[in-house]
Amino acid sequence: MKEINAKKLRAMWMDFFKGKGHTVISSASLIPENDPTVLFTTAGMHPLVPYLLGEKHPGGNRLANVQKCVRTGDIDEVGDASHCTFFEMLGNWSLGDYFKEEMIAWSYEFLTDPKYLGLDPKRLAVSVFEGDGDCPRDEVSAAAWARCGIKRDRIFYLPKANNWWGPAGQTGPCGSDSEMFIDTGKPACSEACSPACDCGKYLEIWNDVFMEFNKTADGAYEPLAQKNVDTGMGLERTLCTLEGKKSVYETDVFAPIIAAIEKNCPHRYGESDETTKAVRIVADHVRTAVFMLGDEKGVLPGNVGQGYILRRLIRRAVRFARQLELGSAGISAAARAVVGEYQEVYPELLDNGGKIAAELEAEMARFEKTLTNGIKEFEKLCQYLVGDTVSGKAAFRLYDTFGFPVEMTEELARERGLKVNTPDFYAAYAQHQKKSQAGAEGNFKGGMADNTEVITRLHTATHLLHRALKTVLQDENVNQKGSNITEERLRFDFTFGRPMTEAEIKAVEDLVNAQIRADLPVICEEMTAPDAKKQGAIGLFTQKYGERVKVYSIGSFSKEICGGPHAARTGELGAFTILKEQSSSAGVRRIKAVLR
Ligand code: ALA
Repeated sequence: MKEINAKKLRAMWMDFFKGKGHTVISSASLIPENDPTVLFTTAGMHPLVPYLLGEKHPGGNRLANVQKCVRTGDIDEVGDASHCTFFEMLGNWSLGDYFKEEMIAWSYEFLTDPKYLGLDPKRLAVSVFEGDGDCPRDEVSAAAWARCGIKRDRIFYLPKANNWWGPAGQTGPCGSDSEMFIDTGKPACSEACSPACDCGKYLEIWNDVFMEFNKTADGAYEPLAQKNVDTGMGLERTLCTLEGKKSVYETDVFAPIIAAIEKNCPHRYGESDETTKAVRIVADHVRTAVFMLGDEKGVLPGNVGQGYILRRLIRRAVRFARQLELGSAGISAAARAVVGEYQEVYPELLDNGGKIAAELEAEMARFEKTLTNGIKEFEKLCQYLVGDTVSGKAAFRLYDTFGFPVEMTEELARERGLKVNTPDFYAAYAQHQKKSQAGAEGNFKGGMADNTEVITRLHTATHLLHRALKTVLQDENVNQKGSNITEERLRFDFTFGRPMTEAEIKAVEDLVNAQIRADLPVICEEMTAPDAKKQGAIGLFTQKYGERVKVYSIGSFSKEICGGPHAARTGELGAFTILKEQSSSAGVRRIKAVLR
C-alpha cells in the first residue's frame, strides 16, 4: 500500500488540480455567510453557492480547495469507527466549464495514477444515477467510466436516494452524482449487494456531483443556466481507507491528539471498547471545539445557535474525559495538539491560540462545577430509586436546582440500565416556564415562548412529521388517523401495519430536523378542495371544510389542507425528538414527539 498521510494527500490534491488549470482557494469560515439555513459549513460547495448559481468567481471557473466542515447531526454516533463532527473535504469545482466526461477521466487518473493515489483499478467500483422523472439515466457518466476501463459490472445504477446531491428540502443547486468506492474484497453480502448497502464491502471515497438544476421553492427542478461540477472527498475517511486502518481515529491527523490524551491519563486507546470510545469522543469533540473557537468568525460557548453546539461538544468531552480520568489540563493539552497538527493549513488556529485556550478553560470550569454537583445528586437519587425509571420530576429537579442537563441524566441512567421519564421532564419544564415566565436557560436551544406559540410550533412539526413518515416509510398510504397537541408534546396516529425500526424512527427525526434547520417558510394559500388535491396537497378531512380550503405549504417539503395556525418559518421550531413509537390500535401506530 502506498505511504500516505494527510499532508501528502492535501498536497497531491492541489498539485493535481493546479495541473488541470484550477485556482486553489482557501477554506472559507465554518460559519456560513448570510445563510440562516445551516449553522455550519457542511460541505465545500456551501460557500460557493452564489457562484454555482452564476455569479463570477474572482478565481475563475476552475477551483479547488480543502474546506473545514462541521456536521453535528450524528453527534451521538461519534465514538464509532467513522463518525466525526469535524472533517476536511477536498473539493474541486467547474463553474459552467468542464462537465461529466472530463471530470470522470480526471477522477480515474487521480485514483489510479501511481503519481497520485495509485489504486489498483480492479479495486474500484462506481455508481451513477439510474434516472427518474426529474433527470434521465446517466449513460454519459457510465460510458465515461467504461472508457476509463471500469468494467460494466462495476458500474452500479442507483436511485435518487443514493446518487443525488442537494440538501433535503432545501432550494438551490443540485443534481445527480457519480460516486467512487473501494472494494474491500469482502464477499458480497447478497446477490443485490451494491455500493448502496452498508455491509462494509464498498467504502465511498469520492463524490462527483453534476449540478444542472436549481430546486425551486415549489419543488420543481429548473435547469441551471450553467452546468457545474462539485466534487468532495472526505480527507479522514479517504486516509483511513487508503491506509487500511480500522478507524478514522487511527489515521495520522488524530495521532498527536490521542497521544496528548494518553499522556495525561492512565488509560490507553484500544485497551477496552469503552476506553476507545471515550478517547475518540474526547479527541473528536476537542478538535471540533478548537476549530469553532479558532475560526476567523469565532464562536463562543452559549445557549443558542452555534454557541449551543460548541457548549454541548465541550461539555460532552468533559464528561467522557472524566471516564478516562483525564482532567481539564489534559483536555487543554489535547487542544494544543489540535492547534499543532493543523496550524500550517489553518493559520487562524495559531493566531487565535490564546483565545482558544482561555475560552475552553472557562467553559470547562463552568461545567465541572455543574457536573460534580449533578452527579453527586444523581447518585443520591439512585440509592432511593424504586423500579428502573428516574421520574421526570427528579430529572427536572437535577436540571432546575443543579443545572444538570437532562441529556446527562439520560446518559448516566443508560449506563446503569435505568430509564428517564423524559416526557414528564418536559412537562415539568413547561410548567415551570409557565410559572416563572423566565427565559430559557441551560441546555435549551432558545427561549420557550408562551403556550399558544408552543402549540403552534408543534402543529407545524406535525405536518413535517406526517410528510417525513410517508417519505421514510416509502408509503403514501401512511395517513393521519388522529392528532392531539398539548403544551408539552404532539401525538400523531397514523396507518401503518408494523412497529417502526429504530433506524426508521431516527431517519424520520433527521428528516424533520433537516427541514427545521433549513428554516423553510410556511405559506398559506386559499383554494378549492379539488385544486388542492390537484396540487398534491395531503387532504384527509376534506368533508370538514367548505368549498375553499386553506393549504399550508412548508417549503417544497409538505403541502397539507389545514386550518392552521402555523409557525411562520420552520427555523422557529427547535430540535424535534420522537419520544415514543407504539401501537395505537390494529393497523394504527402512535408517535409522541417534542420540540426542545
Ligand atoms: N457536495 C458534495 C458532497 O458533499 C460533493 O458530497
